[in-house]
Order: sequence, then structure tokens, then C-alpha cells
Amino acid sequence: VILIRGFCSRAQRTVEALADGLGPEANPNASGANEILRPGDVPDFPVLTAVGVNRRPVIPGTIYPVVVTNRELIEHVQSLVNSGSPYLGTFLRQSEVEVKETDKGTKNQKQDGIPAFDTIDRGIMSLDEIYTIGTLTQIHNIFPIRGGISLVLQGHRRLTAQSLVVSDGVSKVKVQHYRGKRSKKTGDGPDVLEAYANEILTTIKEILKFNPLFKEQLDYLIANVDVNLNPGRLADTASGLTGATSTELQEILEAFDIQERVNKALYLLKKELQASKLQREISQKVEEKVNENHRKFLLQEQLKNIKRELGLEKDGKNVLSTKFKQQLDGKDVPEEVMKTIEEELERLSSLEESSSEFSVTRNYLDWLTGLPWGLSSNENFDISRAQKILDRDHYGMEDVKNRILEFIAVGKLLGQVPQGKIVCLVGPPGVGKTSIGKSIAEALNREFFRFSVGGLSDVAEIKGHRRTYVGSMPGKLIQCLKKTQVSNPVVMIDEIDKMGTGYRGDPSSALLEVLDPSQNASFMDHYLDVPIDLSRVLFICTANMTDTIPGPLADRMEFIPLSGYIMQEKVEIAKQYLSPAALKETGLTDKDVQLSEASIEQLVRWYCREAGVRNLQKHINQIYRKAALHLVQASEQGDKSKDSKDVISQTYNYVSSLFSPDGAEKINSETSVPEVKVEEKEEDKEEKKLKRPIMVTEENLGDYVGKPIFTSDKLYDHTPVGVVMGLAFNQLGGATLYIEATVVDEHEDSSRSGLHTTGQLGDVMKESAQIAYTVAKRTLRSHDRKNNFFSKNSIHMHVPEGATPKDGPSAGITMVTALLSLATGKQVRKDLAMTGEITLTGRVLPIGGVREKTIAARRELATTLIFPKANEKDFEELPHLVKEGLKPHFVENFEQVYKIAFESED
Ligand SMILES: Nc1ncnc2c1ncn2[C@@H]1O[C@H](COP(=O)(O)OP(=O)(O)O)[C@@H](O)[C@H]1O
Ligand SMILES: [Mg+2]
Repeated sequence: VILIRGFCSRAQRTVEALADGLGPEANPNASGANEILRPGDVPDFPVLTAVGVNRRPVIPGTIYPVVVTNRELIEHVQSLVNSGSPYLGTFLRQSEVEVKETDKGTKNQKQDGIPAFDTIDRGIMSLDEIYTIGTLTQIHNIFPIRGGISLVLQGHRRLTAQSLVVSDGVSKVKVQHYRGKRSKKTGDGPDVLEAYANEILTTIKEILKFNPLFKEQLDYLIANVDVNLNPGRLADTASGLTGATSTELQEILEAFDIQERVNKALYLLKKELQASKLQREISQKVEEKVNENHRKFLLQEQLKNIKRELGLEKDGKNVLSTKFKQQLDGKDVPEEVMKTIEEELERLSSLEESSSEFSVTRNYLDWLTGLPWGLSSNENFDISRAQKILDRDHYGMEDVKNRILEFIAVGKLLGQVPQGKIVCLVGPPGVGKTSIGKSIAEALNREFFRFSVGGLSDVAEIKGHRRTYVGSMPGKLIQCLKKTQVSNPVVMIDEIDKMGTGYRGDPSSALLEVLDPSQNASFMDHYLDVPIDLSRVLFICTANMTDTIPGPLADRMEFIPLSGYIMQEKVEIAKQYLSPAALKETGLTDKDVQLSEASIEQLVRWYCREAGVRNLQKHINQIYRKAALHLVQASEQGDKSKDSKDVISQTYNYVSSLFSPDGAEKINSETSVPEVKVEEKEEDKEEKKLKRPIMVTEENLGDYVGKPIFTSDKLYDHTPVGVVMGLAFNQLGGATLYIEATVVDEHEDSSRSGLHTTGQLGDVMKESAQIAYTVAKRTLRSHDRKNNFFSKNSIHMHVPEGATPKDGPSAGITMVTALLSLATGKQVRKDLAMTGEITLTGRVLPIGGVREKTIAARRELATTLIFPKANEKDFEELPHLVKEGLKPHFVENFEQVYKIAFESED
């Protein structure tokens, strides 16, 4: 490197000396190493050192920087410079592969911090490698660089390579020189060329407007080229300025004819102009966009500042942490939780406001500080007040009400909330399970929160999501605490028997933790991750049936059954609760509409036979809405006719005034007419007005709620042979169901006889039917030895309604009775209904749902009832209202049933 440096500095000195020698003659403005020689001063060397450039040919009249890395060439260039004739024959290489290799080299050099100039890394081995038309160049400047030397070549004139000799890695060419000539074409005189030259200049100036980088080169051009005298040289230099491709430039080089060259140069310049314009446009557009964005950003920053000044900005970290601290005011936060809060506050202050972690932490703190730590509402220990509130909202439901009053009494004695089993209200729909929750909360003076777990299958609904999930939230219980802002609300978990189990864990086991008094004092929500005390919450659950409640949950519950209402109860509920509430809702009073008791009875009897009162409530609401519509329509009509009366009387006034003989009379008529008008109006009102109150009676009930849904009390007035009324019990309460048996076929061969059942019976009920068949056969034999009915007939037994699935053993005695009725051809006694499981030996076992079944029997006007003996106690406990007028029989074996059904008439 040192060696090269030494020789390079020598070379430079040589160039400088050379330039000095040329002095003012060459160029008075140029000085030192930058001096440019005039082309005419260079002699025509017959043989020159040849170098091959890769990127573009050196156009005469331009300068071209190259880097030489080839060792032999470097030495040779040095000797050329030293010998005082620093001239080269420069040619463009042809092969593309070589260009690529050079590019690689260039890249490497770039990494070393050297500008990516065209690189000459080897000599020319044959004329095939190059375009033979090249340029006589002068080494104008020489610098040492790492790994080689950098040359500035100045192009002088065109030459053609004729032959090539290679020695010691350096190639020499024999050349023919071309000095610039005028165009051969005489037609295009000098004027045409000059015009072209001018056009070239104008185009350059225009390019300059768009691309100021050309300025320097242009200055050089103006200073060094006598444009007017030499259009060919102008074309050369100008095309050298453009970003044309190597082949385009080579074409310029090969255009010995000046006219052709000028043409081509102008074309290249125009192309350059277009490109520059386009470039300018693009850059302007980009700039506009950048400016716009910048402007927006600035405005937004200003807006933020303004908001902060006005106190509207809530997101500032300081504002946030003061807000969180304020939320804790007056709360009694456990030490452990306080520690977490402080840690999180610290974290918040160190996080970037726009980061996602910031918002996670902020949300977390919002929940944590928003909980009612240590806050609770004052318990009501006044029993009479509680009783009043409970009675105000609900009729009956004595069990539930008593349970709440007991709860208050124990609480009063203990001075704190009693711990115990979770109350679960079980009953058919519409009996007031959900709605009494609110009254209970009010009676206890607590906040109320209800959530339904029907269909819920995601544990996260109860236990919350872990905080790492996007959009995570705490579970329902934490949401409840935050909403009610007390730690002792009444929480109603509705429809607990309809809870699902999904693939996201089992929510019932999560509820277990919530409901178990020994665990819920430190309930862990996944989101909050600190223990929460739920022990002061009063949980009430509701369910339609107990069967589907998971065992462990059921174990922690105390079930309070709410059975359906009988007719009288429904009438009372409608009169005392539903009707006044509906009246209030429609904005009417009893001066507007009155619903007679008889019509309520009609409603209950012919429209709404289900166990609850929801349907009844719907009908009553409908009646009042219709009545409201009638009233409003009537009053609107009254208004309209009043308006039209006004118009008529005014017209009358006007017409009569036209005909009146003098003004006095006119005034008279005007004053007298209003009196007439008032009279007319009142008369009209009387005519149109609906009579208030509207009375809804038995007669016009159909106008309000349509035709009755039920037309008779029973399916059969007197059950025919083979049909017996049974009593059933399901989710919707009690119901009557008929068991029908009939003969399908009669045959001598006893092996073809048998029993066929239909009506969507479950497995238990199907087996029960088989048992009944056996019992019936045996009973028949014991009563009438000779009767071989069962062995001669195949029998079909059906239980309507066929679409409803049924199961359970409680229809056992009913089926036996139906089969025996068929076999003996005797009807069972009138108004008989029965229920009871049968064993193979004919014993009658107890069943469930006595109250529901009794109510259902009443609804169907069955008066003689048969129950298993073991259910006698259940029946005795029923309210008097339900038992009234019924004739119950309690049986232990089927013989007794047989007697009641077929023999005794009392
Ligand atoms: N004993 C009752 N006294 C007064 N209103 C009742 C009674 N039972 C039910 N209701 C009314 O019937 C409607 C339905 O009751 P709801 O609580 O939704 O039934 P459930 O939850 O048992 O299915 C409610 O508007 C409720 O006020
Ligand atoms: Mg409900």
C-alpha cells in the first residue's frame, strides 16, 4: 500500500505539472489537478493502452471516474503518467456476465466505504470482449485508494480499435482517430444543426429546473464547450449528462455523423426531461403526504395539551393514579390487596402510555380499586317490615317468606349474617321464583344482583379469564360486587338446573367454590388473583327441577318447593297483583277500566291452565292494552269532530256577516255564535264519549283476548272402557294424562297375544307397562277364573299426548286399571284419577309431586283420587284450599285400587 501511495502521489504531481505546463492556454478558470485539456491539443497516438469499462462508454467531452484494481494495470498507468503521456484507449465491455462480476466487486468496495465507481480489474484479452468504437481518454487525475487507484478520465475523441496485442497482462491497441467533422448531409445546413443545438441547450436548462444536481455539470459544460461552433461536441457532452443506458450511449459514440448524433442526443435529453418531471411529481406527492401527516401529528399534540389544560384529559398517568387512589377512599382494603395495588400503581407509572401493557394494568387497577372493600349496606332486622314488603309483591309463597323471616330472626339474635345452606327455589315456570328475589333483597335492605346460568358452559363466566388473555374480564361475581358496590348483596343464580357443561371446563364445580360457605370467604377469581370474601353474600338459586342439578351442588342447597297455583290462588294473584300492576303499566286507573272477578275466573279456567301465572299475566296485560287503545281512539275522534265543528261555525259566521245589513248585527252574530258552538261541542262529546270505566266482563272478554283455548274441562266426560285418568308431574308442574288401552286383534293361539305401547314412553315407563300387564293378568285370573281375555287378544296401550316424551313409574296402577277395564268391559267410576307405582306382586309404592298432581286433578275436575298409602302425609300437609272437596283414597296394594275403581260406588 505504501508503495502504491508513493507512486500515486508521484503520479498526481505529474498530472499537476502537466496541467501547469499547459497553463492559461488550456483553461484560464481551471487550476491544478482539475484542469481539462482541449481535445485538439492531444496528438494522434497510433497505439494506445486499452482499458475496458463496464458501465457506460466514456463520451468525448465528459469526464468519467474509474477505479483500477488490477496490479499490472496500476503499474502500467503509473509508468504512463510518469512518461508524460497519460492517454488510454477506453472501450465499453460487451459481456453481461462480466458486468455482474464487476458489480460484485463494486459491492465489496462499497462496504469498505469507497464510492461505487466503475471498476477495471483486468485487461482486455481480445477485441471480441469490447465494442471496438471507443474513446481516447486522458488520465486527468489520480488518487490512491484502498486496494487500488482511482482515476478521473477525460474523454477526448472517438477512435476505432483495429488490432490488439497483450503483453504482461496489459493490452495495447492499434487505433484510428476521428476528429470532429461537419455533417456530410448538405441538405441539412448549419442552420438546422444550430437549431438542434439550441434545442439541446433549452432542454438542458429545463432539466435543470427539475434536477438541480445537473447544475455543476452544466456549469462545466458552459465554461468548456464552445457550443455554437461545435454542435457535435455539445451533443456528446449533453448526452453524457443524462442517465441513459450503456447501449444508448454507445450508440451516441458510434454516431460519427453529427446530425445523427445530435438527433440521438436530443432524444436522450427529452427522455431525461420526462423522467425528471415524473420524479419531481412523485417527490412532491410524497412530500405533501409527509407534510399532511406531520401537520396532523402537531395538531393532535396541541389538542392533547389543550385537553390537559382544561382537565378533560383523563389518561395522564398522574390523573389515573389519583383517580385510583380516590376510588379507595373510605374503603377498608386488606393488607395483601393493598400491596398488590401499590405494586401495580408503580408498574403503571413506569409503562409507556401507548403500550398494550399499560392498558392491561390500568384495567386491572380499575377493577381492583373499584370493588367495595369493606362496604356493606345496613341489614334490616325488622321482621314486620320485611313481612310487609314480601306480602306487598307476592301472594302466597309462604315457605319462601317464612324462610326469609327466619333468616332475619336468626341474624338479629346472632348480630350477624347466619351461615347455612344455600336456598334454592324449585318450581314450575311462572310461579314467581325469579321475581321474589328482588323482594327478598328489599326486605333485607340489601342490593340485588341476578344472573342466569341457564346454558352457561364457560367457566370463565364465573371464575373470570386470566389477565393474559386479550379482552379478559373478571367473572360474574366480581362484576356483581363492582356493580352493587356492597359486599353483602343478594345474588340470585337463576336456572341453576339448566347449566351446561362445555369443553371449557365445568362451571358447576366453579359454582361449588362460590356457594360453599367454607370456601367462599377466600374466593379466587382468575382475573383479580387476590382472595375475595363472598361469605356475606346471600345466594338464592332457582330451578325448575332438582334432578339435573349436579350432586355436589345439590348437597349444599336447601330446596324450597314452589308448586303451581290452583284456580282460586290464580284468581287472587290476578286480582291483587297482576291486574293493578298491569293497570299502572298502561297508564290507566280503575276509573278507566275495570276487570270483573268473573272475567278473571274465566281467564284462569278457559285460557290459562298452566301451573304458573305468566300466561295469565300476559292475558291481563293484553286486556288493558286493548282498553287503552279504545280510550285513546275515542278521545282522538272526539277531538277531530270538535275541530270540524269549529271550522263549520267559523264559515257560518263569515257567510252570515256578508249578508248582514249592518256592522252592528255582524258583531252580534259574531258574539252569539260561540255560545252555539259550545253547546254543540258538548252535545257531540256526550255522543262520542266511551262510557268510563270500560267494564271487562264475562260477556265481552272474547273481544279482548280472543276465543278460549280450552273448550271443555276434560278430554272425556265419562271415561270409556279401557281408559283411565292418571296424574303426572313434570318440569311444568302437574298434569293429568289418560291411559288408553284397546284390542288390536283376537286369536285362538295364545302365543300371539301380547302388549304394544306407544306415546314416547321412556325405558322406565315401558318396563312399568310390562309389569302392569303381568299384574293385570294375575288380578283378572283371581277375580274371574274363566276369563281368558289376555291370552286371546293382542292389546295396544297408548298415552297421549303422543308428542311429549314421558317417563317414570308413577303411572303403574293407572295402566293396570286401564288393562283391567278393557278386559272386564267395565268403565271405571266417574271423576276418578290415580297415581302410584306398582310392583310385580301388586304392591303400591309412593310417588312424588303430590301437590302438583292434586292441583292438576282439581283443574280437570277429578274428585275421587287414589294415592299410595305412603303419600298420605304429603296430602294432609296440603293447604285446605287445595284439598277442599276432594275424596282421596290411600292404598297399599292393587286390590284396593280395583275395589275403588270398579266396585264401590262411594
Ligand atoms: N305469588 C305471586 N304473587 C304475585 N305475582 C306473582 C306470583 N307468582 C308469580 N308472579 C308474577 O308472575 C310473573 C312471572 O314470575 P317469575 O318470577 O318470572 O317466574 P319464574 O321465575 O318462577 O319462572 C312475574 O311477573 C311475577 O310477578
Ligand atoms: Mg325465572
